Amino acid sequence: MTTFPPPSSTAFGAQFPVSRPRRLRRTPALRRLVAETRLHPADLVLPMFVKESLSEPSPLGSMPGVLQHTRDSLKAAAAEAVAAGVGGLMIFGIPSVRDAQGSAATDPNGILNLALADLEAEVGDATVLMADLCLDEFTDHGHCGVLDENGAVDNDATLLRYADMALAQAEAGADLLGTSGMMDGQVGVVRQALDFAGMTDTGVFAYAAKYASAFYGPFREAVDSALIGDRRTYQQDPANRREAAREVALDVAEGADLLIVKPAMSYLDVLSDTAASVDIPVAAYQVSGEYAMVEAAAQHGWIDRDRAITETLTSIRRAGASIILTYWATEVATKLKAGI
Ligand code: PBG
Repeated sequence: MTTFPPPSSTAFGAQFPVSRPRRLRRTPALRRLVAETRLHPADLVLPMFVKESLSEPSPLGSMPGVLQHTRDSLKAAAAEAVAAGVGGLMIFGIPSVRDAQGSAATDPNGILNLALADLEAEVGDATVLMADLCLDEFTDHGHCGVLDENGAVDNDATLLRYADMALAQAEAGADLLGTSGMMDGQVGVVRQALDFAGMTDTGVFAYAAKYASAFYGPFREAVDSALIGDRRTYQQDPANRREAAREVALDVAEGADLLIVKPAMSYLDVLSDTAASVDIPVAAYQVSGEYAMVEAAAQHGWIDRDRAITETLTSIRRAGASIILTYWATEVATKLKAGI
């Protein structure tokens, strides 16, 4: 009876196995040397929430560690993030009064615009200030646009609101406007409005591929969302990959300066496609549900929190994002800076 020869047998040549990839994994120093992907504080963008008429910052039950800020606590948290070296801040505002048009979004004294002006004065020279350009936080029905007489989101009427919103946010000091509403033509209309007003330096950080995702769940708490129903008539169907390429091409053609793919982890294929197909910076948004899942599992002791966080961010970078919007931005930037 013949037995299978041991690996060192001459039947396979004296060197078998010839290739030994494990050699490069042997020590932490070797692994560090050959790492293909690294995280850097400057690649991380912190999304932040500021709420009107709040007297104390308010913790979010579904996003442990994340707060709805007052104008003052927002400034302090922004300064902390900037000191940690994060690359930018993406600001979301929650107004006290909502209406069908989302009037507070275009009011210079609306909470988001006031907060942007605060931050411009506080940290404007030291960071990239970004504003969420969408109506859902401001409308009483919670949709990302205005509604027609049948209750459907009216694309072209919404574009007019976005143009006004763009001017208000640029006026307030935002460097980049995050067009997240998924209306057709939103990048083009915002670009034209800015250029027409002479605000040629304000950029568009376009949510190009944005899916109708269950992973936005905790965000709804974060912005006290009024939405009933869903956003499937304007956000993309999770089933579609090629459709994202079309959305990306349109946003580039309309003048986007940077692109966002959102959510991140369930859409790494879309992220990879996008990074390969455009020559402008590509970001991924690690959304509220992605954050909440890791925090919840870690609280149960089911996963190692720090390793899981690093692994999610690394995999998003590996798939092609040069920038990541993440609620862990300050914490991770602080640890990276300290070499932890
Ligand atoms: C829309 C917007 C949403 C998020 C960012 N911008 C909500 C949505 O599209 O339903 C979600 C972000 C997150 O879940 O972390 N203004």
